[in-house]
Amino acid sequence: MTKIVTFANVKGGSGKSTLCINIAAMLVKLEQSVCVIDADPQQSTLDWIKNTKDPVLSLVNCHEFSHLDKICKLVYDFVLIDTQGSLNKELANFLKISSLVLVPCRISRDDIVGQGWVQMFLKKSQDVGQNIPILAVLNGVNKRSHILSHIKQQLREDGTNVAGTTVSQRVCFSETNVNKMSVISYNKVAEDEIRELTSEVLDFLRDRGQ
Ligand SMILES: Nc1ncnc2c1ncn2[C@@H]1O[C@H](COP(=O)(O)OP(=O)(O)OP(=O)(O)O)[C@@H](O)[C@H]1O
Ligand SMILES: [Mg+2]
Repeated sequence: MTKIVTFANVKGGSGKSTLCINIAAMLVKLEQSVCVIDADPQQSTLDWIKNTKDPVLSLVNCHEFSHLDKICKLVYDFVLIDTQGSLNKELANFLKISSLVLVPCRISRDDIVGQGWVQMFLKKSQDVGQNIPILAVLNGVNKRSHILSHIKQQLREDGTNVAGTTVSQRVCFSETNVNKMSVISYNKVAEDEIRELTSEVLDFLRDRGQ
């Protein structure tokens, strides 16, 4: 069954496109068939994948969201949806069909509030009886930050699923963005973090029967 992962946070710049692209590339590396839907009018993800010279990332299929109906009928192992993050009807439609909503969060008040909005919006958008899971991923983190563990704990106490993997603040993420590459084979530490996060996402889905 196709697994649909939607990347959402109302806060701009939280890392939705960065994590979407790199997890897509890692899934391909794990021999999964992957389609990315770019639902952001800026179309940066579509542009990133279409113009990549990265041999792994070039194996990711990429479509505009207007083709969603058609894509859902195709058989992919994974469909990843990169969103603009506005709380609108379009996002509600994506959330409803998701196997998992992945919410990248920087360690900032606005990002944490932004993920709270996604949680509330998901509750409102999903049909009765649906229980679509959310996973918050702390991104762009200085791992020596004193408040990292405090924020994780606070989120968990509030009932939020938080990935054990945190993604570091690394220049290579911006470099690969500019050069339209994934971090795979580009930076070992970043690649390892994306592998760990992808494996955690797969376990998370498996634990929920997906
Ligand atoms: N872990 C990281 N370390 C360093 N830079 C990062 C990291 N994650 C993302 N960035 C950089 O932060 C910027 C914003 O990231 P990205 O475009 O992925 O966010 P977004 O949530 O998709 O933003 P938007 O809401 O505008 O679509 C980019 O320049 C990206 O290269
Ligand atoms: Mg984006």
